[in-house]
Amino acid sequence: MQQNRWNMCFGKTAVAAMALMISAGAGAIPPSAAMLSNACAGCHGTQGASAGPAVPSLAGQSKEAIVDAMNKFKSGERPSSIMGRLAKGYTETDFIAMGTFFASQKIHLTQQALDQKRIAKGAALQEANCSRCHIEDGKEGKDDTPAMASQWLPYLQMQMALYLENKRKMPEKMAEKVKPLSVEDLESLLHFYASVK
Ligand code: HEC
Ligand code: HEC
Repeated sequence: MQQNRWNMCFGKTAVAAMALMISAGAGAIPPSAAMLSNACAGCHGTQGASAGPAVPSLAGQSKEAIVDAMNKFKSGERPSSIMGRLAKGYTETDFIAMGTFFASQKIHLTQQALDQKRIAKGAALQEANCSRCHIEDGKEGKDDTPAMASQWLPYLQMQMALYLENKRKMPEKMAEKVKPLSVEDLESLLHFYASVK
């Protein structure tokens, strides 16, 4: 089901990307950030508020974090199910326009079932380990650090697994903090960030 929905979204996006290339070729006015970002709404939700637990919300992410992620998807440095193929259809200028658009939205507050004990444990661990970069309990994106407050837990778990399997490259200073923690500590931290309102 989920897979079919993605395929449908991807189909629509490919058509939209083609339409953009044609209009650019004809020397038309460049597409607005909102127009570009419509191509993302099928999966990331309108205004960047994702409705599906495997797709991250983009609302309130910093411009730098979005541009950085898109470049890494495009080059293949960051592993993905779908974004790598998609990112190849856009330029750096498009990434900046999309990043600016989503950065101006308010963080999406999710409703999800979380473990209260883990939330409390994560809250106690985050300050010493993660808060230097994931500031304001993950509500603010600092430079290229993605906002994590209220992000979907399954998405965060998937990304942490990619980091631990060395498939997604962790920033060195983040690895210094993550590596000494137990799997249970990390799980608690993700529950904490997913719970932040
Ligand atoms: C077909 C569904 C789909 C569409 C359309 C889509 N995305 Fe994504 N996006 C995903 C999924 C799934 C992920 C998680 C990485 C992966 O597996 O590809 C993701 C991850 C991301 C991330 C990483 C966020 C983070 O917290 O690190 C960014 C940034 C992003 N997408 C931007 C965009 C932009 C901009 C567009 C519109 C051009 C777009 N996406 C369109 C499905 C989609
Ligand atoms: C030195 C700064 C720094 C520290 C400390 C840090 N992080 Fe990060 N974190 C980052 C940056 C930068 C990224 C995006 C990196 C990339 O492009 O892969 C990131 C990404 C993430 C992501 C993926 C989010 C997404 O939307 O894709 C998770 C999950 C995460 N960090 C968890 C943690 C946890 C848990 C801790 C504490 C144990 C922590 N980080 C400590 C800088 C940091």
